[in-house]
Amino acid sequence: MKHSVIIMVLLPLLVLTGCQSMVESNQQNASLYQQLGERSGIADIVEDLLYRIVEDERINDQFRGIDVRQFHTNLTDQLCELSGGPCTYSGRGMRESHADMNVTDTQFNALAENLILAMEENGIPTGAQNRLIKKLVPLYPQIRNL
Ligand code: HEM
Repeated sequence: MKHSVIIMVLLPLLVLTGCQSMVESNQQNASLYQQLGERSGIADIVEDLLYRIVEDERINDQFRGIDVRQFHTNLTDQLCELSGGPCTYSGRGMRESHADMNVTDTQFNALAENLILAMEENGIPTGAQNRLIKKLVPLYPQIRNL
């Protein structure tokens, strides 16, 4: 009796949960770059991010007068490279390009929030959103000029 419970109930359950975790780990292993929609998907996300920056009173002052086209190209290349894509970021280093801005924690978080919303708008899965944000965390001290 005990054995048939194991075979009829527990075994299928184990097989099912095993399959589910295989699917989940396969999704995690899919390249982040692919999940973001390759360079053109990333370019769309950055474009939507730019619209959000312009609307966001917490940060838009910092962006007045910038070369929007260049910012768009450089941020797209940077996110493409960071996500494992075949791009080469050719802009300035993060410390240099944010040196005189006195970026606050609130502003850093506001930009990250807008990036998440832009990814959401473009249908990027939450796991991929988090993986990209994780790649940006090491840039925090450079951008904050700490
Ligand atoms: C995760 C956070 C951030 C990333 C990945 C990031 C990335 C970049 C990149 C790649 C550039 C282009 C640099 C170049 O063209 O040489 C740039 C420029 C710039 N960033 Fe950020 N940034 C971040 C946070 C912020 C924040 C929080 C602010 C201000 C609120 C900010 C304001 C600017 C401005 C104004 C420029 C243009 C500088 C110029 O053209 O002189 N950034 N950023």
